[in-house]
Amino acid sequence: MNYNIFKLKNNFITATFTDYGARILSLVVYGKDVLFGFENINGYIENADGYHGAVCGRFANRIKDGKFCLNGKTYQLNKNSSGQHLHGGLNGFDKKIWDSKLNEDSITFSYISQNGEENYPGSFNVSITYTLDENRLRLDYKYYSDKDTIANITNHAYFNLDGDNNSILDHKLMINADFYTPIDEHIIPTGEILKVNNSLFDFRELKPIRENFDKFSDTEQFKFASGIDHNFVLNKMEDCDCVLLGTKSGIKMTIKTDRQGLQVYTGNFMNNLKGKNGLVYDKHSAIALETQLFPASTSFAHFTDPVIKKGKIYKSYTVLEFDK
Ligand code: BGC
Repeated sequence: MNYNIFKLKNNFITATFTDYGARILSLVVYGKDVLFGFENINGYIENADGYHGAVCGRFANRIKDGKFCLNGKTYQLNKNSSGQHLHGGLNGFDKKIWDSKLNEDSITFSYISQNGEENYPGSFNVSITYTLDENRLRLDYKYYSDKDTIANITNHAYFNLDGDNNSILDHKLMINADFYTPIDEHIIPTGEILKVNNSLFDFRELKPIRENFDKFSDTEQFKFASGIDHNFVLNKMEDCDCVLLGTKSGIKMTIKTDRQGLQVYTGNFMNNLKGKNGLVYDKHSAIALETQLFPASTSFAHFTDPVIKKGKIYKSYTVLEFDK
């Protein structure tokens, strides 16, 4: 496979990327690489089902039975995860070599997904620009299609802000979300939108993730996912949407996005992965915070609208800010 590696560096952040899946490979802040990943590209190929650092699409997260209806027509997408369509299907954006353009403080990856790819309608043009701006990494997505289609694009980086492989449960987390979307036993949203009050999902104040795990590990929602693998409905009224704090390193990441959903995945299925820097990754040793539309939003009219209108340009952004 013909892939390339790129580096961006300023006084605060050193980051490497590859055009294979438009991935972030490493993110060094305050002397620590806070991103999980592998020693070489083969690690990413062998552990493809982890989507480490990759851009996921055309539709990130799950679509029930891989089926959706658009303009009166039903489409059957490829199924790649227990009968569901997950993160774009069998050969999603994470497995493509994207075009690249390196600038002084940014890199843009772009990709054209052909009409019919994974059975999606429309030729779909997508780009992501990663920009370093002092202590911030900015992700700007842009996409359009020549036919009506659906899309949900995200980045699937896993963070451990202590730069080690110890449990992420000791990190502190705050999510500006009063509601979340519960799941069924297949990790598909049921369509309900419930209050986080007094539940596994109440992170309205910064607190150790462990606190909620200890209290709510015997609940159905916890058991369905072996932890958190849920969409949070962002309040969108605050300056920031989410804060993650590495309690040993003191490194704090603040997330701001224009997306309405945050898929929080506490690495529940990670098991004995041979990662970079000699680290072995196990269950709950990192967390993915995926800014996106609600999963399965193709199934529920009251969820975020995933429809992309022919010819219209769509943009979205996420900013990760690092402090200590
Ligand atoms: C999903 C998980 C999945 C993980 C890795 C997350 O976005 O919600 O269910 O296991 O990605 O594929």
